[in-house]
Amino acid sequence: MKKMAQTLYFSLLVIALCSLSEGIQRRYHYINIEKTWTEAQRYCREKYTDLATVNNINDMNELKKTVNNNLEFVWIGLKRTDVFTWKWSLGDPVKYLNWETEPSTDTNNCAVMRNGKWRQQKCIDKLGFICYNGDKSYIIYTSNATWREAQSFCRQYHTDLISVRNQTDNQLIHNIINDPHTSVWIGLFRGLWEWSDNTDSAFRYWDSGQPDNSGTDACTVTNMNNEGKWHDLSCSVSYTFMCHEDELILIQKNLSWTEAVRYCRENHVDLVSVDSEKIQLWVTSVVHQAWTAEVWLGLHYYCLMNLWIWVRGEVVCYQNWAPGVQIQLNHCSGEHRAGAVQSGGDHKWISLPRSQELNFICTRNKEN
Ligand SMILES: *[C@@H]1O[C@H](CO)[C@@H](O)[C@H](O)[C@H]1NC(C)=O
Ligand SMILES: *[C@@H]1O[C@H](CO)[C@@H](O)[C@H](O)[C@H]1NC(C)=O
Ligand SMILES: *[C@@H]1O[C@H](CO)[C@@H](O)[C@H](O)[C@H]1NC(C)=O
Repeated sequence: MKKMAQTLYFSLLVIALCSLSEGIQRRYHYINIEKTWTEAQRYCREKYTDLATVNNINDMNELKKTVNNNLEFVWIGLKRTDVFTWKWSLGDPVKYLNWETEPSTDTNNCAVMRNGKWRQQKCIDKLGFICYNGDKSYIIYTSNATWREAQSFCRQYHTDLISVRNQTDNQLIHNIINDPHTSVWIGLFRGLWEWSDNTDSAFRYWDSGQPDNSGTDACTVTNMNNEGKWHDLSCSVSYTFMCHEDELILIQKNLSWTEAVRYCRENHVDLVSVDSEKIQLWVTSVVHQAWTAEVWLGLHYYCLMNLWIWVRGEVVCYQNWAPGVQIQLNHCSGEHRAGAVQSGGDHKWISLPRSQELNFICTRNKEN
């Protein structure tokens, strides 16, 4: 405790102003050694996080910049499996479902909403669709598009095709459609392709005519000779490859705050300090995979000074508290408290007793 007080005092002297941290959540590493897909996967898992996952076009551009070689195929982490799984285009976990009838194994791999219920539909049919904006508004388009066309349109002009995450969302969208006979695309589709690190990313950058799913072609390369567009190729051929290293990692273990700090310090760097909106966005991108309703952050209440501080001693500048938390003044009367982020909803921060056992987020970044 004495050491902590000294550290805090020192940090407060040094960090007179709130500093902004720079950096990216996902760092790509190009490995210029030829390996089969499975060998490459093992290499990345040992040295970094996993074979590269690509979540969006920004990731794709970042990845392209990392390869200093424009003649070649480079493995990424996308692999074909034997099982079709339903996914949201936006990458949300599929928890809520509202099928009119249980989905069948036919070739209808996209989903529409009609009269408030979901149905399977051929992805190449032309229908209206609903886009989602990051600010939580929805826009319905009545012009006809295939599911893929609708997805590209929404990604270009809004955020993505709509995800329907609960009954409230479903009712809202049903009301927007406002016609029991019209089928409208929602962001749900199913496919065989999965990322090596099991993330839900539905981003795809296939070249035209790809994946051609021919025979043994079951792993994905990015073609540096063609703007990085993706091809499926036989997993047993050797190519150079791309690993990624995530700055933040969600740990799906239930530990008290103090145990979580110890775990992160032993295995990574520390519990995460969310000192900017950017880091809050990264937190948002990993936290939805948590098992617990709240997830520990490196935030704790420092009773001597009567204030919240980050575990590395920084004052809390950027804030994302749930309403009312800051004005609770009894943080020191009972058990010491620490800060956690809600894994659902708006991902606000709340105060909890440190003995609660929650999932938590470690950072690997030594600089902040
Ligand atoms: C969309 O297709 C439907 C049925 O094929 C047609 O009735 C409707 O006029 C089309 N709407 C537009 C905007 O093209
Ligand atoms: C439904 O999900 C939305 C986010 O899509 C969230 O804002 C809302 O609070 C949820 N409602 C319920 C009742 O869970
Ligand atoms: C962790 O806690 C959550 C929520 O309380 C629970 O559902 C889950 O089973 C727990 N996991 C383990 C490994 O104990």
